[in-house]
Order: sequence, then C-alpha cells, then structure tokens
Amino acid sequence: MDVTIFGTGYVGLVTGTCLAEVGNRVLCIDIDPDKIELLNNGGVPIYEPGLEEMIHANRAAGRLRFSTDAKAGVEHGLFQFIAVGTPPDEDGSADLQYVLAVARTIAEHMNEYRILVDKSTVPVGTADRVAATVREVLERRGQKIEFDVVSNPEFLKEGAAIEDFMRPDRIIVGTDNPRTAELLRALYAPFNRNHQRFFVMDVRSAELTKYAANAMLATKISFMNELSNIAEAVGADIEKVRIGIGSDPRIGYQFIYPGCGYGGSCFPKDVRALERTANALGYTAELLQAVEAVNLRQKRVLFQKIRDYFGGDLAGRTIALWGLAFKPNTDDMREASSRVLMECLWEAGARVQAYDPVAIKEAQRIYGERADLQFARDALSVLDRADALVLVTEWSEFRSPDFTAIRARLRHPVIFDGRNILDGDQARAAGLTYISIGRTPLIPA
Ligand code: UDX
Repeated sequence: MDVTIFGTGYVGLVTGTCLAEVGNRVLCIDIDPDKIELLNNGGVPIYEPGLEEMIHANRAAGRLRFSTDAKAGVEHGLFQFIAVGTPPDEDGSADLQYVLAVARTIAEHMNEYRILVDKSTVPVGTADRVAATVREVLERRGQKIEFDVVSNPEFLKEGAAIEDFMRPDRIIVGTDNPRTAELLRALYAPFNRNHQRFFVMDVRSAELTKYAANAMLATKISFMNELSNIAEAVGADIEKVRIGIGSDPRIGYQFIYPGCGYGGSCFPKDVRALERTANALGYTAELLQAVEAVNLRQKRVLFQKIRDYFGGDLAGRTIALWGLAFKPNTDDMREASSRVLMECLWEAGARVQAYDPVAIKEAQRIYGERADLQFARDALSVLDRADALVLVTEWSEFRSPDFTAIRARLRHPVIFDGRNILDGDQARAAGLTYISIGRTPLIPA
C-alpha cells in the first residue's frame, strides 16, 4: 500500500520505517530541508536502537523515501499520517498549529479519496477540527472530494520503539466509518498476526485512550514516589514494599519503580494536557493535578538529599552525575530529572561533572558552554575531583560498578542513587555512604 507520513520526528520516522519494513511504499515528508537532506544522505536525526539499520535497508529496497515536497506526499499515499509535534503552549494545552497546517496542506493538494490518520498525541476533539479544516479548504477550492479522519494513537516507548511498533500491545483505530476501519485493519495486518490486538472504536474514545494510558502509568509512578517519601519518614524500605504489593496481579510489578521522577516527551506533557482539557470543560482533575505536583516535587528530592548531606551548603562543591537522559537507551533529555537536579545544583553554587553513554551531545546543545558543567568520557573519570556521585538514569552499565574504584576517586565517600539500582550493602562494604530513594541511608561502620 502507499503511505505518506507528515513529520519525520520520533513518531513519524518509526512509523514510516516500520510500515516500509513490511512491504509498503512509504514517503516521509518534512518541512525541515536540513532534516530531509540528512535522511537522504543516510543520517538519522534521533537515536533509537535498530532504527538506523532499518532505515538503510528500506531505503536501499526503494520502499522508504524522504522529501520536502508536500504535494508529492499528498499524491502518493491513500493513507496520510499526521505525525508532527504538538508542543505544549503556555498553559500546558497541546498546540495544534502544526497538525492543522498539515491538514490544510493535504486539503490543498488532494484530488481523490484520502484517509488522514492522526498519529500525533492530540487532545480529544482534534479529529473533528482536522476534518473541519479539510472541509473548509475543499469548499474554498470548490472541490467535492471524499476523505476520512482517523485517530490512531501511538504507544511507542523510546528505546524500544521498533519492538513496540512491530509487536504492539494494541492498535487503536478511532473511526465511525467501517470501510475505513477495514482499510486500516489491512494496513496493520502484518503487526496483528497470531493475536487480536486491533481495536476499533469511536474517534473520541480513541483519542482519550492515549491520554488515559499515559496518565495511568504516570499515576502509578507518582503514587510510588509519594509512598517512597512516606517510607522514609516511617523508616520502611520502599523496595520491600514494592515487591510486596507488585505480587498482587491486580497491581503488578510494572511501573511501580520509585525514583527521582518521570520525564520524557510524553508523561509530563500528556498529564498536563489532559488536565487542561478537563479544566476547559469545567471539570477539575484533582488526581491528575496531584500526579503532576508529586512528580515536580520528586525531581528535587536528590538535590535535597545532597544538600542535607553537605550540611546545607553546596557552594564550590563538584557533583558527578551518572546519566543525563530521561531514561536509558535514549539521548532524549526532555523534562529529564537530571535537568532539575543540575539547575538546582548550579543555583546553589555547585559545579556538575556529567557522564552519559549517549546524551552528552544533547546536554551540550541544551546548555552550551558553561564553566559549571563539564563532561567526562566514561563513568569512572567523571568522578575525578568530584565530591559526590549521583546516579540519575539507570543505564545498564551503571548497575554493578566497582565500588572500591569509586571510593578511591571521590573526595567524599558518598553515592546518591536516584533509581535504587545499586547494591547498597556492597557500596557500604567499600566504605561508601549509600543514599537512595525511600530507604534509610546506609552508613559504613
Ligand atoms: C511513555 C509510555 O510508556 C509509552 O507507552 C507512550 O507511548 C509514551 O510515553 P516513554 O516516554 O518513552 O514512553 O518512557 P517510559 O519508559 O514510559 O518512561 C517514562 C518515565 O518514567 C522515565 O523517566 C522513567 O524513568 C520513569 N519511570 C518509569 C519511573 O520513574 N518508574 C517506573 O516504574 C517506570
């Protein structure tokens, strides 16, 4: 089948590449000529395991092409995926200007039936606005051309996006037109073999499903983070509590890891946007407000622990960070906990030395040159002349470090573990104070 994707960001690129991988002819359109040039020269603008290889193979096979020519894009695909960004505007609502601009472009150039597929995370009611936009342009053009607008939210996890697309938990299609539903069922058939994970529903339910899923997961995390603070106060161990409650299948083990807060491009933005949507309709989403507030507070917890350890004064201290990305296997630092921590440290007059397996370039892009931010080549050299080590992102390579080597390099024998992944007993045996989330600090005898 012929598929056009508007937007070669994270979602668009993964969607286009995976649809090409199963044999479709995919044309990806972006208004950014530099991005398209990079892609046409074999480059990939984002880091995602397996993506680069898959793009190369499908370009070589002629099934995947990149262009800035929107008109050619509209002519190419029966399916017109809209996968452009929906950044939050000042009040946290999703800004739909890019989505609606693509809708206008499609309406401007279409000459036969087209299916517009909303892949971007968009507020409930967006499909109706997209349809109204297309109708308006077609009227102005004096054209009567049939089209449908479908909501087809994505549920990709960064770092596992290819796997998630190729083997999805669910494929949600929101449309009131049974014929369109069948066309999408055919497009997604290769990803729906051996199990029934294709769900058709009305457009608004599909749009809300995406927000509901992310809000539920964010709620689980904030709940556990709240509990971790209570655990500290009462002298309990949150990790024991986690295992204790996770064994109840109604609760489950997933997404109940306490830590230094959730980040990324989805949870913070989607929780806020859903809360705004509800608010605009006269409903106060108290639980969602709390989920967000708990997370903002949790992102400062590491800083508070570090400040307390050093007696309230961090001026002139050097703090080593392990991990900058909002989670492992990505270079994405959007809403990353590391950013809140670094900004608090700088404000308190401390310097930061950071190491991350892939996100250093991204940190340099965000913060530029500054005297109080240095980067190291590896996890050990980042400790040289540092007063303390703070683990912010749970990259695998940090999981079983050489505590004796850490002890030898640090000026002060202390580790702050923002993800509870280190073996505190081993750290203590090596002479390090081990401070984690939701547990009593371990202090060497
Ligand atoms: C998320 C959803 O998982 C995905 O389905 C949706 O399509 C987009 O949003 P992503 O943002 O890539 O995906 O990250 P995810 O792996 O879900 O992690 C989000 C954040 O929560 C990270 O900062 C992570 O460190 C944190 N987290 C996750 C916890 O603090 N505790 C947990 O138990 C799980």
